[in-house]
Amino acid sequence: MLDITFAKPALPEKGALALLLGEGESLTGLGAAADTATGGAIARALAAASFKGKKNETVTILAPGAGLSRVVVVGLGKREEADGRATEEAGGTAAAALSAEPAGVLDVGPAAPARAAEAALGAVLRAWRFDKYRTTEKPEDKPKLARLTVAHADATKARAAWTPLKGVADGVFLARELVSEPPNVLTPAEMAERCRALAKLGIEVEVLGPKEMKKLGFGALLGVAQGSANEPRMVVMQWHGAGGAAGKGKRAAKAARPLAFIGKGVTFDTGGISLKPAAGMEDMKWDMAGAGTVVGLMAALAGRKAKVDAVGLVGLVENMPSGTAQRPGDVVKTYSGQTVEVLNTDAEGRLVLADVLWYCQERFDPAFMIDLATLTGAIVISLGHENAGLFSNDDDLAQKLIAAGQATGEGVWRMPLGEAYDKMLKSDIADMKNIGGRPGGAVTAAQFLQRFVNGKPWAHLDIAGTAWSTKDKPCVPKGATAFGVRLLDRLVADHHEKG
Ligand code: BES
Ligand code: MN
Ligand code: ZN
Repeated sequence: MLDITFAKPALPEKGALALLLGEGESLTGLGAAADTATGGAIARALAAASFKGKKNETVTILAPGAGLSRVVVVGLGKREEADGRATEEAGGTAAAALSAEPAGVLDVGPAAPARAAEAALGAVLRAWRFDKYRTTEKPEDKPKLARLTVAHADATKARAAWTPLKGVADGVFLARELVSEPPNVLTPAEMAERCRALAKLGIEVEVLGPKEMKKLGFGALLGVAQGSANEPRMVVMQWHGAGGAAGKGKRAAKAARPLAFIGKGVTFDTGGISLKPAAGMEDMKWDMAGAGTVVGLMAALAGRKAKVDAVGLVGLVENMPSGTAQRPGDVVKTYSGQTVEVLNTDAEGRLVLADVLWYCQERFDPAFMIDLATLTGAIVISLGHENAGLFSNDDDLAQKLIAAGQATGEGVWRMPLGEAYDKMLKSDIADMKNIGGRPGGAVTAAQFLQRFVNGKPWAHLDIAGTAWSTKDKPCVPKGATAFGVRLLDRLVADHHEKG
């Protein structure tokens, strides 16, 4: 992670400086000091560029004098409207503009200490890069930014606001790393090992293998897994942060109902016997993004010591065609007892989630369940890459998710559920089939999942269009987005923490 420190504003004797400037604002603080020291070079450059201060508008001035290697000015939009989200974005844009510099100082201007921490968050999120498999990249081609000093008059308060945000950033990075890993490395067993490592954060981790899942009767998940040489896993992660069991006797020890997060973890989706076309199949390495997000979220909650009890469950399988693979036409028995006619082996995510959802509600009786899955191509047709599909049987939960999406920039858009869609899953020989046809494909997939939540409060996020980005965004470099970590962390922080 980009190394962040907080300090009182002081003009660096050399190196780079980044300034966040609101619309119509003139240079103050470090900006004014740098301008004076450089004989007005900063103000001249802003005027020459007709800099307005619009959101993420950027002017870079190279070697303006006074020992400065680079001054970057980033627009914030209207200062009075510059909320946490806008500040993060400006911080992220500044980090990108500083990427050729080993270190820099960032001044957020006249703003509350929390804004300095938010700018730092945006900067670290943007500066992240997955480069463990690059062995021949020339040093001069690598982004260099390693240290950022965030200037604020109340550096102590800014630093305190940063501590929990750093925990969230660590969770985002874990999710991005898992999604970025190639599918030959990140098998179900390997992903389970990475989950085990969360024990160091105080998370309780259990890993179930095929034997245990067979004994439980996970016929749907195991049907997907049976074509692969890589064994499936289910991982159960528990974070006890509400403090109920902290040695306060029997009554206090009776934990409140936990919040539950469930992720689709298909480490590679070939489609199985209903094989996908070759073009673009490599994208299906990120068919475990739902699970990656759940793991990252658990790390974020534990990393910032969230005062909440939460469980995270991920179903990890590889969907392969082989002599042992399940066939179109097979009937499997799910853990719930309901039977499913598998008419398309490429509709595998819902089969995996069916068993994990039922297990989750039965074992934990959670306050709610939220699942995340790169479930359907149809949701990408509906919503593109701008919003995840939100399906829920609970209006209050849906509203809270929509609000958390607006606050974090991880947007969700509510989609319908209903009897008429549910009927499309009728099978001629079993309790249901696993596909509902092309029309409303994202909705029938959600209807399928709803049959496994046993009437409990539930929301499903179809993140097929948002788990990966083909272009850089202010706080997300292109690639794995970790979509959902910040959204769900925010949902927890705003509504489910004690004190
Ligand atoms: N993992 C895919 C969905 C997907 C597609 C994610 C494109 C990201 C980008 C899922 O398992 C799948 O194959 N769904 C099928 C369902 C169909 C067979 C009913 C789909 O969407 O085509
Ligand atoms: Mn599939
Ligand atoms: Zn899939």
